Amino acid sequence: MHKHLKIAVTIGLLAVFLYCAFYNGLVVRKYSVNTGKLNEDQSIRIVLIADLHNHIYGPGQSELVQLIKEQEPDIIALAGDIADIQAPLTGTEMLLKGIQGVAPVYYVSGNHEYWSNDIRQIKDTIRKNGVTILEGSYDKISINNAAIIIAGVDDPEAVRYKKRGTNWEEGFCRAFNGLGEEPAYKVLLAHRPELIEVYKQGDFDLVLSGHTHGGQVRIPFILNGLYAPNQGWFPPYAGGMYDHGSLIHIVSRGVSFNPLLPRIFNPPEVVVIDIEGDRSIQP
Ligand SMILES: [Fe+2]
Repeated sequence: MHKHLKIAVTIGLLAVFLYCAFYNGLVVRKYSVNTGKLNEDQSIRIVLIADLHNHIYGPGQSELVQLIKEQEPDIIALAGDIADIQAPLTGTEMLLKGIQGVAPVYYVSGNHEYWSNDIRQIKDTIRKNGVTILEGSYDKISINNAAIIIAGVDDPEAVRYKKRGTNWEEGFCRAFNGLGEEPAYKVLLAHRPELIEVYKQGDFDLVLSGHTHGGQVRIPFILNGLYAPNQGWFPPYAGGMYDHGSLIHIVSRGVSFNPLLPRIFNPPEVVVIDIEGDRSIQP
């Protein structure tokens, strides 16, 4: 009897371990960022979605849309690879329609959208759904009486596909030159986290990225990501919040789902960022 109990407990623990390891339902990941640029009673909530790759969560994208709505965002940020290499754009369009009217939506491209060879149609679809596309540009808005600049940059693949012969990094610096004088909290949307050293030249307070899919495989407390594109094995920016002094970088592990490439201890995530005022911090 004692032996049977031991076997049952072992099987039970193994089942729990495997369930947790391969759990692939959507989760909400929350971050809080303090800034001296906002008053104590001011806050801004951004919901960050990255790397959908056209996947569909529930009928008509209802699961994902509902989860976004429940967070009551002030801004929705789409950080690239929302569409994918292959048409159709069904999953993307369902998401865009579902979040219309919830909050202002901003989008930057990812590499996969360029690899589709149909970037124009993808951007037309996104624009048609009331989304502001940021391509080396920015928007200044007021949320809860707080001034916020939301800027964004095209994926570096844009340069290769447009064949303009321009240097992406130079273009980035030119686009946001002088932004430092603007009295506002400044957020940059940029798909690829590994280019953080470039983003640091732009005088931003917060950078939001995706692209890594969380490094695909994680081991709680031991390994934050096994492999990520453009960073390789044991990527330094696989997912999470990174403090660079005056700049905070948040990397979403994305909402990608591919049954052929399982995510381990790494469920798809809807990221919620609360920017909160704290006048004790030097702006
Ligand atoms: Fe990507």
